Amino acid sequence: MSILVTGGAGYIGSHTVRQLTRGATDVVVLDSLELGHRQAVIEAELVVGDIADQELVIGLCRDRGVTQVVHFAAYKSVGESMSDPARYWLNNVAGTTKLVEAMLAAGVEQLVFSSSCSVYGTPAHNPVGEDAPIHPESVYAESKAMVERILQWYGVTHGLRSVSLRYFNAAGASDDGRIGEDWRSSQNLVPLVMKATLGRSGPLTVFGDDYPTPDGTCIRDYIHVDDLAAAHLAALAYLDGGGSTTAVNVGTGTGSSVYEVIRATERITGRAVPYAVGPRRSGDPVATFADPATAQRTLGWRACRGLDEIIDSAWRWHRDHPDGFPAEG
Ligand code: WQD
Repeated sequence: MSILVTGGAGYIGSHTVRQLTRGATDVVVLDSLELGHRQAVIEAELVVGDIADQELVIGLCRDRGVTQVVHFAAYKSVGESMSDPARYWLNNVAGTTKLVEAMLAAGVEQLVFSSSCSVYGTPAHNPVGEDAPIHPESVYAESKAMVERILQWYGVTHGLRSVSLRYFNAAGASDDGRIGEDWRSSQNLVPLVMKATLGRSGPLTVFGDDYPTPDGTCIRDYIHVDDLAAAHLAALAYLDGGGSTTAVNVGTGTGSSVYEVIRATERITGRAVPYAVGPRRSGDPVATFADPATAQRTLGWRACRGLDEIIDSAWRWHRDHPDGFPAEG
């Protein structure tokens, strides 16, 4: 019995692979390495290929005795998705459909899907529950919402059982510092704060501090990547136990502002974070953080790390790996 992890050479995928292999689960990673890193795959087999290669996927599932799939492989740049939407329709949506067809052809009927809180768009209320309206505000978010619905239909037509995990803001690095986020490809707050603090970029730009929040900056639910990885193992166990198709918010339930992230970084690193306040970034919700009750009730999972652990692990990773993973030899 083994688990196929697509995109397992990426940020959240590689942390999930490590937790699976630590639990003595056989894992095979399928990753194109277009965005992932070979060095991020530790103690697991890596097959370099595309999720749309159905012959490859069917062969892997049959040869490795795959019983479940965790599907991370996708493009995830909100900005790129608006300038080149076809990449997202073809890879995120059509590619996933081809993957599911291949899984089913090989008799694999359980899937954990990497979805996103961005399917909600700008939430009307916080904390955000799974019953909040689905209102994507980018092609990227729409591609995630579309795949969730395709998976629901595969449940109706083919008996596929899936869990769509709607991530809030993943951040931080592995507790042992061996893997982390590649800041060269990320435009997210925490890696950019680390880059500015290490002097590897100019000052961080704070995208507006005139929002209707306690300190004027936007609020997000930052979840430690190792907590997020653990949610995938809980979802796999839920499906293995006969759980039916569902979608679950994966966040801590606590909102933190941009300034709180900056202050935590200064406190933990002992360094000043160089930053300047700039104009608001279009499309930024003022605040969004999860209601984690469904994850606790359905998956028996909840986050156990807070903002300080996120910042401390991110700092150790970026300080010790200022160039991320070594370039492919
Ligand atoms: C966080 C906050 C910015 C950069 C992310 C992912 C998205 C989804 C949800 C998974 C915002 C502010 C940022 C900077 C700043 N996750 N910021 N200066 O936009 O919440 O979305 O989580 O699918 O894919 O991207 O994350 O890190 O870009 O921004 O002030 O240089 O930090 O305005 O308030 P976001 P982010």
